[in-house]
Amino acid sequence: MPETACDGDRIMTDFLKTSDFPAAELARIVDSALAIKRGDVSLRPLDGKSVGLVFFNPSLRTRASMQVGVYELGGNPVILEPGSTSWSLEHREGVVMDGNKTEHLKEFVRVLDRYVSAIGVRTFAELKDWEIERKDPILNAFAEYASVPVINLESAMHHPCQSMADMMTVREKLGEGKKKVLLTWAWHPKPLPMAVPNSFALAAAQFGHDLRIAFPSGYDLDRELVAEIEREAKDNGGSVEFTSDVNGAFEDVEVVYAKSWGGSQFYGGNDADIAHREQFRRKWIVDESKMSRTNDAIFMHCLPVRRNVIVTDGVIDSARSAVIDEAENRLHVQKAIMTELIK
Ligand code: CP
Repeated sequence: MPETACDGDRIMTDFLKTSDFPAAELARIVDSALAIKRGDVSLRPLDGKSVGLVFFNPSLRTRASMQVGVYELGGNPVILEPGSTSWSLEHREGVVMDGNKTEHLKEFVRVLDRYVSAIGVRTFAELKDWEIERKDPILNAFAEYASVPVINLESAMHHPCQSMADMMTVREKLGEGKKKVLLTWAWHPKPLPMAVPNSFALAAAQFGHDLRIAFPSGYDLDRELVAEIEREAKDNGGSVEFTSDVNGAFEDVEVVYAKSWGGSQFYGGNDADIAHREQFRRKWIVDESKMSRTNDAIFMHCLPVRRNVIVTDGVIDSARSAVIDEAENRLHVQKAIMTELIK
């Protein structure tokens, strides 16, 4: 898509992952989101404009907050669900479409592009082929064929709107400056995509936090992404360390961010992942005992969350749980992102 000119010499085009933007610009978006939340800003930059919201997968927070956000900015949200309320989509190049897919993404995106001023898209990992899915083929095809800005509403690899809301929540709860932040894997009965932990770690590094990432054997993050996280941490005055010590990981941290994810080596074989993770059941859970090791940490999770599997009732219902404010902040930060992006 063509570049979109913004204030001064900044250029913002698609919003696919936070590392496409300098840390200072991300911090400025969080400032705007906090101002929107306080009620200091009541602009309607989307007056007379429509935004396509394409959901290949289920959602509560992303769908509702985008729909409300577009409306509150003066625009009209157009929600499409390929394979359900719109035609099923093929995205691969050069295939003979004699199967169950009705329309190619090339036509879908270029037609939608004629109606709307931006397109948001949610397209989860299918957990079938790691080497293909780690390249985010569906999201990138949207970006290739759209002339309007594309906003990632969670792809196989990234959930940047979530991580921006997460950074806003840390700032809101604990103030400015670097914090000691733990991202911890948690046991879940089945493998889940990696977009949330990837994006949380990347954004925490870009915001200069001291980041600890805890996971058991078999659940390493993508090697190239880890290199990027380490680079961003170094460039922005933060740090990153890795541990498999499920209890020690909680020592002295100020933020506990829990998430389960699947192991990349198990893509295409979910049963093997389920069998491997069984040994971590009831050990990799955020409970009161682990939280007592922290420096009075806040508890965060992107939601939805399985109670007493990922986190105990006692932790998620405690005064230090930030999960509902974190979900509310999706609305404010996405309004700030859309205000920047859609001209
Ligand atoms: N956190 C998040 O993206 O929630 P939904 O899947 O409900 O949109």
